Amino acid sequence: MIPGKFITLEGLDGAGKSTHLSWLENILRSKGKAVVVTREPGGTPLGEALRELLLDNNGTMHAETEALLMFAARREHLDKVIFPALARGDWVISDRFTDASFAYQGGGRGLAMQKLDSLEQWVQGKFQPDLTLYFDVTVEVGRQRINAIKPADRFEKEQDAFFEKVRDAYLERAHKFPQRISVIDATQPLEEVKKSLDQIIISIC
Ligand code: TYD
Repeated sequence: MIPGKFITLEGLDGAGKSTHLSWLENILRSKGKAVVVTREPGGTPLGEALRELLLDNNGTMHAETEALLMFAARREHLDKVIFPALARGDWVISDRFTDASFAYQGGGRGLAMQKLDSLEQWVQGKFQPDLTLYFDVTVEVGRQRINAIKPADRFEKEQDAFFEKVRDAYLERAHKFPQRISVIDATQPLEEVKKSLDQIIISIC
């Protein structure tokens, strides 16, 4: 059996991940792959309950609580969804994964990256996505696209300065892990983004 791969999608709120995710799913299915699509925080009943608490825009929590809950949801997600799917030989596409914790809780909230490294090691050991697609947009473009879609959640309500730090942290991660993380300029017209995606997927299928 040819093993499936684990692909994660990342980007600022408003980067257009959802659109690109459907496109990616279709490409893989058209190549005959069994695909599991999932998301973080979430992906399991417990994870989705944690997501509600994490995104509730009336709620508040300490930045470390936020990070711990993200990783708690992830532990469950790996155990119940991601590892079993990969063991069956399926491909897994996750709308966000651990890079989001480094970007949002590390960059945005300013938590020490070392603490996040420890949580990552605890929750997933050396396990990493085979490929991460980082859809890069400026804070301004992301903001315009968020406003256009739906009421803002707790993260989307943050100021531009927060998202600048999130973006810097994502770009730093991409620089640190160039083999795994592909940066896609998501301010381009949709057709161009799709072309970039096609090329990247051909290289891993
Ligand atoms: P998002 O993926 O943007 O979902 P939607 O498209 O429905 O708005 O929302 C998830 C939010 O959670 C996003 O603002 C980023 C945040 N997040 C973290 O802060 N840390 C994490 O580890 C993860 C997985 C997400």
